[in-house]
Amino acid sequence: MTQSQIILKLAKTFNTNRIYAHYLFNAADKNNLFDNAKEINKQKPKPFIKWVGGKRQLLKQFRDLGLYPPEGFNPSTNSYFEPFVGGGAVFFDLIPKKAELSDLNSELVTTYNVIKNNVEELIKSLKKHKYEKEYYLKVRAKDPEKLSDIEVASRFIFLNRTGFNGMYRVNSSGKFNVPFGKYKNPIICDEENLRRVSKTLEGVIIRQQDYKNVLKKAKKGDFIYFDPPYYPVSSTSSFTSYTANNFSEREQVELRDTFIELNRRGCYVMLSNSDTSFIHELYSGIDNVRITKVKASRAINSKASKRGKINEVLITNY
Ligand SMILES: C[S@@+](CC[C@H](N)C(=O)[O-])C[C@H]1O[C@@H](n2cnc3c(N)ncnc32)[C@H](O)[C@@H]1O
Repeated sequence: MTQSQIILKLAKTFNTNRIYAHYLFNAADKNNLFDNAKEINKQKPKPFIKWVGGKRQLLKQFRDLGLYPPEGFNPSTNSYFEPFVGGGAVFFDLIPKKAELSDLNSELVTTYNVIKNNVEELIKSLKKHKYEKEYYLKVRAKDPEKLSDIEVASRFIFLNRTGFNGMYRVNSSGKFNVPFGKYKNPIICDEENLRRVSKTLEGVIIRQQDYKNVLKKAKKGDFIYFDPPYYPVSSTSSFTSYTANNFSEREQVELRDTFIELNRRGCYVMLSNSDTSFIHELYSGIDNVRITKVKASRAINSKASKRGKINEVLITNY
């Protein structure tokens, strides 16, 4: 069997994507490949935060549609970019060899970098937290600007694990204002997973920056996944306050222009957004572009009964 046939067999055996199968192939002992790959697969890291709009539930659908990951992308020679990384569900699903992750949310990016560089100190700090409303409010009131990076990361993960629905929302002056969440026994410190995440982030570049900076780096053959704040389905359903900045129509148009430029360079581009006429119009008529509807369950509604299926779109240039 050739190497690519073995990688395909690994992907099939572990019901996974070709990029991650590539990772398994490189990491496993070649004398005992499939057994060893099985052990490595058991230790696959998961996103370390809950993030609104997390893509984990949709990845199998993307794969079954043949749209993910792009067939021509070669993880040995080319890079993967995720410029709206959030919880990083796609990155953790692929584990590409060369990756650059970024987001505008500076506390989130600090948290990624602390996990990457200083995970043991972070674990020590996370173990000191308590799941109590009064304590939560005290931690929430702290100003992240006055904290060390470890304290920022520890507070960020604590608030994400114990705040209402794992939401990240700030008021107009940038203060985190999500209420205390009611859980049975929230896991604040999943130390094994944090160590796995830390290992996976070795060699990965993680920056706080606007998504447009991807244009400075992306080259022909690279793979870029955009998961921006969605264009609202209706005026009341808008949820764009991941950061104090808004992501409105003008930003959607600029993002489309960034997509076009990457398309022109010969990058593989994949983008998620809402299934709205505005988004359909924005992306129709671009060379090679396909707009595919996918079904997602509405995660933002806390009431399970209102968490119905809604359409989203996956836009690709391959
Ligand atoms: C829909 S979420 C991404 C969810 C992620 N794919 C996941 O699976 O968890 C959008 C992200 O975009 C970030 N963001 C908003 N405006 C941005 C900008 N101009 N540049 C970069 N990131 C931005 C937000 O902080 C948020 O983390």
